[in-house]
Amino acid sequence: MIGREVRPITYPRGEVRASDFRVVEAGVREPRPGEVLVRNTWTSVDAALRLRLREEAPPGYFPAFPLDEPMDGIMTVGEVLESRADGFAPGDTVWHASGWRDYAVVEAGRQALGGVGTLTRLDLRLAPPQAHLGVLGGNGLTAYAGLFHVAGLRVGDVVWVSAAAGAVGSLVAQMAKIRGHRVIGSAGSDEKVRHLREELGLDAAFNYRAGPLPDLLREAAPDGVDVYFDNVGGDHLEAALGALRRAGRVAICGMISEYTAEEPPQGPGNLMLAVTKGLTIRGFRGSDHAHLLPEMRRQMGAWLRDGRLRCRETVIDGLAQAPVALAALLRGDNTGKTLVRIDEVPHRENALGAARHRG
Ligand SMILES: NC(=O)c1ccc[n+]([C@@H]2O[C@H](COP(=O)([O-])OP(=O)(O)OC[C@H]3O[C@@H](n4cnc5c(N)ncnc54)[C@H](OP(=O)(O)O)[C@@H]3O)[C@@H](O)[C@H]2O)c1
Repeated sequence: MIGREVRPITYPRGEVRASDFRVVEAGVREPRPGEVLVRNTWTSVDAALRLRLREEAPPGYFPAFPLDEPMDGIMTVGEVLESRADGFAPGDTVWHASGWRDYAVVEAGRQALGGVGTLTRLDLRLAPPQAHLGVLGGNGLTAYAGLFHVAGLRVGDVVWVSAAAGAVGSLVAQMAKIRGHRVIGSAGSDEKVRHLREELGLDAAFNYRAGPLPDLLREAAPDGVDVYFDNVGGDHLEAALGALRRAGRVAICGMISEYTAEEPPQGPGNLMLAVTKGLTIRGFRGSDHAHLLPEMRRQMGAWLRDGRLRCRETVIDGLAQAPVALAALLRGDNTGKTLVRIDEVPHRENALGAARHRG
């Protein structure tokens, strides 16, 4: 059997380009005892992949993707074609972390992505398969852990979420609203701002490109904020430090404004405010909170069922389009969760294990 894999061939300088990748046809081997063969149907596109498309990923993070190798550590869902592992049968829908390819041979029980990406059978009564890559998967976990366990949301907190129309941000903002908080969201276009106000029901939203960020934030939150959920870093973090009230908290989830920077970014110039206002600033990774997955799924599942949580998707068709989808996400051309729907495999052969590589 032959399947396609998307492989990086150069590390992008600045913006990600399709030409930084190639699609390779490679033989798919038979599963051994303890393994399953999966045909992937949906694969995730995440901002943080950019951190691994470089010679060295930031210390403490998942490793850089080696050049001209399949990209291990990208969440994917698919259908089990063949199982030699207990607990899995042909026809099961599963998630695992061998994404951006048509087929994967996955070892059951082998930890991936800090436990979040370990081969798992999915409960499709909660939501369709691709939702397990977003709201019921790593994005849901990151949003849930970050808001409730890292920022420690308290009654009466006013919350600002940056990149609020994106996969993680839109979940954070909606969860804080469901819990009865005043929520401000920011995003990079007027259309996204409308989405935040009208579809997600946020109390205030602004386009961060529309003027000086501290002014826009002051207008949206004249009395300041208690929690800042940071997806952006840079000028957004600096503005938040200025707007946070005494004993305010920052959950640093990511710093997307710095991912394509060629020069080391400047730190916030007003960090001393953390001292004067008694702020708590905590970075975190969703995968550090993998034990919260069942609790998060129960809670998100309930909110999805009663229609309180809305989850937009930006769907790009065709495995070969995955790099284009990543570039678009980094530019802000997405709303909600970005997903690649994997097309039917064009080449199938019965000669299992026969390898054929093509540039
Ligand atoms: N800690 C963790 O475990 C964890 C897990 C998942 C994700 N994350 C982080 O969460 C953040 C969101 O990730 P995601 O995968 O959910 O992506 P996403 O929010 O769906 O997409 C990224 C969004 O970032 C915004 N953006 C891009 N460049 C920007 C800039 N220079 N300034 C302000 N906004 C910018 C764009 O929206 P606009 O149109 O609004 O600019 C874009 O849509 C990222 O920082 C990511 O690294 C962290």
